[in-house]
Amino acid sequence: MVIYAVKDYEEMSKKAASIIGAQILMKPDAVLGLATGSTPVGTYQQLVKWYEQGDLDFSKLTTVNLDEYKGLPGDNDQSYRYFMNTNLFDHVNINKENTFVPNGLEEDAAYECGRYDKVIEATGGVDLQLLGIGGNGHIGFNEPSDSFEKGTHCVALTESTIQANARFFDSIDDVPKYAYSMGVGNIMSAKKILLVASGQGKAQAVYDSCFGPITPQVPASALQLHTDVVIIADEAALSLCR
Ligand code: F6R
Repeated sequence: MVIYAVKDYEEMSKKAASIIGAQILMKPDAVLGLATGSTPVGTYQQLVKWYEQGDLDFSKLTTVNLDEYKGLPGDNDQSYRYFMNTNLFDHVNINKENTFVPNGLEEDAAYECGRYDKVIEATGGVDLQLLGIGGNGHIGFNEPSDSFEKGTHCVALTESTIQANARFFDSIDDVPKYAYSMGVGNIMSAKKILLVASGQGKAQAVYDSCFGPITPQVPASALQLHTDVVIIADEAALSLCR
């Protein structure tokens, strides 16, 4: 595990984008695992800037997203498909047919989870997986639990995650209660993992994930077992690691 300590959100975003950009330059037909949430927004903005300057070509890439709310269609402005379109895909020359997000409208959870695992498998494997981290140590929507989930699964969101996400909805009652998420097993299968963290609210989760015991109660702690993990965290997120 390599931890880059950066000053602030802006520096974190530039550094993360430079690692993703290098991956695209080295392997133009790479498979990227992507995340949503507030943390990677600046990273995506930087990638869009480099695309506009003519420095990056997204046309041969394939992407697979970590998760999606169950019950939200892709054109709902809180869905993760919508997030990816508006923050990245609509602004670069990616072929949207090669961008994959779980289907939030599929009611049959067993079917959708099996289907999405096959989608990931059919890509040939993720070269670089981008992750944010929840204040409780979740990655994707793998919430603290008694065991690590291997494949894509349907998750009942915890009260703390529903509360954390309520800021994006009109009312807390509108926050979906379930989501489809890649499992920790899917995430750990990526060749390289890049986790970004910013702000004091992530300090405990970053400390526990990097230096605490490996336990499904802190899902990101599994990353200690991966051989190629880069964490880019700002001063506030690293404040308990010093
Ligand atoms: C989103 C995802 C989540 C977020 C996490 C942090 O696709 O997988 O695990 O990365 O909830 O969210 P932010 O960045 O909003 O603090």
